[in-house]
Formats: sequence, structure tokens, C-alpha cells
Amino acid sequence: MITIKALDFTVKIDNLQQVKLVEKMYTDELLANQVLLEIDQFSFTSNNITYGVVGTQMNYWDFFPTQPGYGIIPAWGIANVVASNHPDVHVGERFYGYYPMSSHVLVTIQKASSKGFVDSSSHRQALPPIYNFYTNTAQDSVFTPETEKLISIFRPLFVTSFLIDAYLAEQHFYKASRILITSASSKTAQVLACLLAHRKKENDLSWNLIGLTSEKNMEFVEQLGWYDQVMSYDSIAQLNTNEKFIVIDFAGNHNTQFQLQTLLQENLVYNCLVGLVDWQHLKGENPLPKKGEFFFAPSHAEKRKKEWGISGFQQNIGIAWQQTIKAIQSTISIKEYVGIQELEKLYSDMLNGRVDPKHGNIVSLK
Ligand SMILES: NC(=O)c1ccc[n+]([C@@H]2O[C@H](COP(=O)([O-])OP(=O)(O)OC[C@H]3O[C@@H](n4cnc5c(N)ncnc54)[C@H](OP(=O)(O)O)[C@@H]3O)[C@@H](O)[C@H]2O)c1
Repeated sequence: MITIKALDFTVKIDNLQQVKLVEKMYTDELLANQVLLEIDQFSFTSNNITYGVVGTQMNYWDFFPTQPGYGIIPAWGIANVVASNHPDVHVGERFYGYYPMSSHVLVTIQKASSKGFVDSSSHRQALPPIYNFYTNTAQDSVFTPETEKLISIFRPLFVTSFLIDAYLAEQHFYKASRILITSASSKTAQVLACLLAHRKKENDLSWNLIGLTSEKNMEFVEQLGWYDQVMSYDSIAQLNTNEKFIVIDFAGNHNTQFQLQTLLQENLVYNCLVGLVDWQHLKGENPLPKKGEFFFAPSHAEKRKKEWGISGFQQNIGIAWQQTIKAIQSTISIKEYVGIQELEKLYSDMLNGRVDPKHGNIVSLK
């Protein structure tokens, strides 16, 4: 019997600033249908912080349970099978999917195909299916040693932006003449801006795309070239309130929402709430006039799969990915973090808004 030492990066559920490392042991003697994976790499962006911020409300702590009062934030990445007691999943195979911020994870598989498997552990069954599927990287030609890190960073965010772009087009952009994106430097916003800019050019559309960002990130957002205009948060009052606006909000900042809603009033024709990167300012004194609509990508994905079929859904995403990934790739440089100390620093910087948008972060705890 071989014993394997593993590590979980856990955070205090009611105080995300507090972290705790939990060591545990696995052996290669597994129960029927159990598979042990060593997590080779996972990406880390504000999206992961948001999983923590809404962990209780949206059940993100339920994916990878740990000690009482603590949670493991999920992350997207790639892992290798190191022990298997399932006939169709073999040691050495490599899977992309939703992992804990850990060195290892133990899954239970009922059914696997050449394409991948679903983790059928009982505690995951009530959670959105998109998170429970693991793709065998050898069976998917987009995974190459050169693209793996980029996929870990962008694929989950890309799907969200793809779904928003498709939804807006289907709604004929609510006849708006301005689309304003907050936290315009975030990766999900970058992908959306790239997709929208592409659609605008292809279809000769006339709306203007405005990126709203913090002063320190203006230069970065401007050089992306996808936004028609870039503004800082303190210049909201300069918006032309006679135009009809769509707002796509990745920031979640209460005061920004309040300013936009009170300024634009009925000319805010669609207020799409996607992200909460500015998690320390989600509340404010002034009650918001309107709520806005929360855009939850997994629900939209399920709806699209029903409309387009699973292969149609994958095909459409594949086409959009190929069209845009080269442009997106050129905007970031990948930064690698190895071991717990480097992760602790990255986590604290990300939590407290000290990250450079030009970096795509990849972590390994193995
Ligand atoms: N609803 C859904 O289904 C869905 C799906 C995917 C992603 N999302 C959400 O979209 C958001 C963007 O995620 P991402 O991974 O793309 O983010 P990211 O690339 O890590 O975003 C970094 C940017 O966010 C802002 N920021 C980061 N930390 C901050 C802090 N502590 N305080 C204030 N501003 C901060 C800064 O932008 P600025 O200076 O430009 O403001 C920063 O450049 C997340 O909230 C994520 O959960 C939602």
C-alpha cells in the first residue's frame, strides 16, 4: 500500500482573510469506483474569490467539504490520475475540470466514457451539472502543452462571456446605443469586449462599447483595443444620459450601481449583474432604485444545451473560442505560483485588489 500526503488550502467561511492549511493522507487502496487525482495546475482569478464571497448563498462550499467553519474554494484546472479503482479510468490519464485548491482530490465515478467522467459523489448531486464533468484532455484536441494553462484560466470565463454575447444579440441589444462594462480589465470582461467588438465589426452594428475601470487600469484597458471608449469610475457623471444603455456589471460595487441607476434611469434598458470583484463594497447607504438581473452562466448554459443540443452548444463555443483566443492570449502573460507560500501571497493580493490585470495566474500545490 502506498500512502500519499495531500494538502488543502482552506479559508474561514465568515472571514475570507483567514486561511488554514489542512494536511491529509490518502492511500492507493480505494473503494470501488473511487479515483485519486493529483492536481497539476489550477487558475486563480477574482472569479475564485467570488466563489468564496457567495459560497454559502450559492452552495460553492458543498463541492469540496472540509473542517467545520472552513471551506475550500473551487478552481478550474488539470489533474492526473494517480490511483484508480474504476475500470474505465486509468493511472496517468489527465482531466480538465473543477477542482479544490488542493494538491489532490478523491472522486467517485459511476460512468466514464472516452471523453471524460462525472463525479457522482452524493454531496455533489444537487449542484449544477456543468461543474461535475471532467474532460479527458487526450480526447480533446484543443488541449496541448502550449494551450493547457490558457484553457485553465480562460475557458470557464469564456463560456460566461460567450453566453452573454449570444443573449444580447438574441435580444437585439435591447435597441441600446451604449454597452457599458464595469471592471473592464477583468478577464471575463476582456473576453466579452473581444466577442462584442468582433460581432460589431462583422454585423456593422452601431452601439458604442464603453469600458469602466479603475484609474490604475485605464492604460491597460485602452491598449486592448476592444472598447470604443474607456472611462474611470469617478467619471460616470460624464455619460450621455440621453442614450439608451446596457450595463454589464462585473464589479458589484454598490455605489457604482447607484450612480448608474440614478443617472440613466429609464435609459438603463438592461442591467446585467454578473460579477462581484469589488466584494468589499457590495453594500451602501443608498437603496438601489432597481435590482437588475443576475446572469448565472450555468443556468444559461443548460438552457442553450436544450436549444442547440450538447454537440451544437460545444460546436458554437468551439468556433467562438478559435475566433477570439489568439487575440485574448496576446493581452496576458502567464505567471506561475508553486507551493503554499506563493499561493498565500497570491490569494491575499487577489482578495485585496492588488493584482495586475495583465497576469494570468496558474498555481500548483503538488
Ligand atoms: N455570473 C456568472 O456566472 C459568472 C461567471 C464567470 C465570472 N463571473 C464573475 O465575473 C467577475 C470577474 O471575474 P474574473 O475572474 O474575470 O476577474 P479578474 O480577471 O481576476 O478581475 C480582475 C479585475 O477585477 C477588479 N478587482 C479585482 N479585485 C478587486 C478587489 N478586491 N476590489 C476591487 N476591484 C477588484 C480590477 O478591475 P477594475 O480595475 O477594472 O475594476 C481587476 O483588474 C467575478 O466576480 C466572477 O465571479 C460570474
